[in-house]
Amino acid sequence: MTTIYPIPTLANRQNALFLEDMPLNELAQKHGTPLYVYSKAALQQAWDAWQYPNADRTIHLCYSVKSNSNIAILQFFAQRGSYFDIVSKGEMARVLAAGAPAAHIVFSGVGKTVAEIEFALEHGIHCFNVESLPELDRIHEVATRMGKRAPISLRINPDVDAQTHPYISTGLKENKFGIDHELAVEAYVYASTLSGLKITGIDYHIGSQLTTLAPFKDAQNRLFGLVKTLIERGIELEHIDLGGGLGVRYQDETPPAPAELIAQSLQGLRDAGFKHTLMYEPGRSMVANAGLLLTRVEYIKPTEYKHFAIVDAAMNDFIRPTLYQAWHGVVNTVTHDAPLVNMDIVGPICESSDWLAKDRALAVKTGDVLAILSAGAYGMTMSSNYNTRPRAAEVLVDGGLDFVICEREVLADLWINERLLSPIV
Ligand code: LLP
Repeated sequence: MTTIYPIPTLANRQNALFLEDMPLNELAQKHGTPLYVYSKAALQQAWDAWQYPNADRTIHLCYSVKSNSNIAILQFFAQRGSYFDIVSKGEMARVLAAGAPAAHIVFSGVGKTVAEIEFALEHGIHCFNVESLPELDRIHEVATRMGKRAPISLRINPDVDAQTHPYISTGLKENKFGIDHELAVEAYVYASTLSGLKITGIDYHIGSQLTTLAPFKDAQNRLFGLVKTLIERGIELEHIDLGGGLGVRYQDETPPAPAELIAQSLQGLRDAGFKHTLMYEPGRSMVANAGLLLTRVEYIKPTEYKHFAIVDAAMNDFIRPTLYQAWHGVVNTVTHDAPLVNMDIVGPICESSDWLAKDRALAVKTGDVLAILSAGAYGMTMSSNYNTRPRAAEVLVDGGLDFVICEREVLADLWINERLLSPIV
């Protein structure tokens, strides 16, 4: 029986797990573990799925850098003409380092500092997605001081329930994001009085891992209503940015295809008679199912209560299970005829929350390499050095070739910025 994995380029061949034409256990042997591995062909499929060739207007995809910010991945999208959604100076510097033009950058986030605003204005970004009235004032002041006009879009909080995990829901009144829907018109009128600003758009982002179209439609209806009022008040916009948030299949989810979301947006825009450029900020749907995390089994530990496979990856490498109780597929990279045993896959960190998967039936021996699936988004970017663990290496697979796109961190580098109180004698 052939298993259909959420990663389209993953398959079992001759008792081994392959990503494209690369046997994963050999890749682990060569580069060590824990190891993030991405498939170029899967990235291409995700990118292609977001293309909508016969639209009646320009559609800009602003890849959300926080989901996977490796500069090789950014370069992959930059070479295909992508725009980028960023939330810090650091992310902006990465996008520039990957060869993308500043004019392709939209800057989101609730806490932009003066230094970040200056940096963005110096480089000439596409626009700021502004999340509060004090931020409007700050951008106006900085732009005026620099003799510039800052392009801005207001991020509106439409107050809709995205029906996703509370930590990744952002479009409800009680969330810290965006400007209240009720206050939006006033905010635009106010922005139009500030000479350091040029109003170019409107946007929202209502949450992440959304698996139905309905919340997108509710939010879109509210936003389009606002745009109509703005037009009546003489405020014209160039673009409408409908954020990211489209979910992916981890287990048995059946999220809509990007084309279904785009079709719904375009229909709404046409019904409203709007000619605006359309923008999205997809992150997860671009990269989650183009990546996996390889980890080696150090010990099999049977206890009276349950079996544990103790592996060499941990919550510092991949925190989604710990933080969101997220379910990720786990597959052995070699096939055994050993009986299936129910087990938890756990890391070596000194916390009971350090687990990668629970209650999985697996045939595993000590030394096997397991693949944690769908780890391309919010995997490496959320990793840390907790327990003084060097961060994993990253490899991109292209057919039968493998490219190191991030070297494994070196232990001594972990305290390179730290200082002793007195010399060691
Ligand atoms: N735009 C903005 C303003 C965002 O805040 C986000 C994600 C995105 C776009 C991209 O959303 P996506 O297409 O990836 O759903 N660490 C969490 C996800 C946090 C998402 C934060 N914002 C996780 O691992 O599930």
